[in-house]
Amino acid sequence: MNIRIPGPTPIPPAVKEALAVEIPGHRSRPFAQLLAEVTALVKPAFGAAGDVLVLTGSGTGGLEAGVANLLSPGQPALFASIGTFGERWAKIAAAFGAEVVRLDFPPGQVAEPAAVADALRADPRLAVLFLTHSETSTGALNDLPAIVAAARAVRPDLVVAVDGVSSAGAVPLETDAWGLDLVITASQKALMGPPGLALVAVGPRGWEAIEAARMPRYYWDLRRARQDAAKNQTPFTPAVQDLLGLRAGLRLLQAEGLPASFARHRRLGQLARQGLRELGFTPLAAEDQASPTVTAAWLPEGMSGSALLQRLAARDVYLSAGHAKDRTLRVAHMGYCAESDVACALSVLAEEAAALRGGGA
Ligand SMILES: Cc1ncc(COP(=O)(O)O)c(C=O)c1O
Repeated sequence: MNIRIPGPTPIPPAVKEALAVEIPGHRSRPFAQLLAEVTALVKPAFGAAGDVLVLTGSGTGGLEAGVANLLSPGQPALFASIGTFGERWAKIAAAFGAEVVRLDFPPGQVAEPAAVADALRADPRLAVLFLTHSETSTGALNDLPAIVAAARAVRPDLVVAVDGVSSAGAVPLETDAWGLDLVITASQKALMGPPGLALVAVGPRGWEAIEAARMPRYYWDLRRARQDAAKNQTPFTPAVQDLLGLRAGLRLLQAEGLPASFARHRRLGQLARQGLRELGFTPLAAEDQASPTVTAAWLPEGMSGSALLQRLAARDVYLSAGHAKDRTLRVAHMGYCAESDVACALSVLAEEAAALRGGGA
């Protein structure tokens, strides 16, 4: 089976083994050690020396925690969206009663730093910016340092929140060095864990904003999570088994080393985009703006995405639809993924696309 969907990603054997054990109670000593180790192991993937909190919930729970902790009812905030996950953050904020100011970029493109700066200049009320790092729906990777530099040139105290769900661990992400204030990722992507955990890095300016925010929050209250994390505890029963799996995934990532993981993902992305182009598919993102973790591509003219995905699934190769459902597909290459996995997916794709073109059965 070759699962190349953008999450949950395949889990390595060591992670499967880690999941097949008795679950320690979350007030026990082994759990405190587990939480401490997971927190320490994940910090390098965030490029964060400060607080990293482990929340039970998927990545979307982390996005919701970002909104509930950084904003107040009616507060305007800027959402620079380059695809579905940028839109999701804006929708969550709208549901919570914030004033959503949107800056949307076309599918496959990244956020232009100058446009973000202009939007901030145009509305002096905007004190918080929400961004996506790797946009999983389009395979585009935002240039965070450039965006943040342009934005802070206009608003030096700007609070910046980042969705790093499909980047942390696979792509350089420097929370501290780039001045990011709240960064979210999830267990089931490049970190090679099972789904079920959101991880949130918070910097000093992030904490100031969290203290000042007046949005109602209970389960996602990061102040309470921080207090308990100081004792290697969580406020509520966490998904303990997910932490066991994530620890195993993070140990593998540590053994590989982040620079090696970044280089591997870069190569995987190049391989996927080049292979797709050779088969007549067109990646949505330009080569220098493409995400190393996932590739979204337009299908060749006239080819049906759903028919192609069905044929691939019949051969145990799982890809997913992309931004424009029947017209795009996505190949994920993040986490537990080798060049041979991508090459194998591409070779089956070549056969099935050829069969579809020829009207083959
Ligand atoms: C960039 C990004 N943000 C947020 C999410 C939402 O995460 P989840 O599906 O874990 O709620 C995803 C999931 O694919 C994602 O890729």
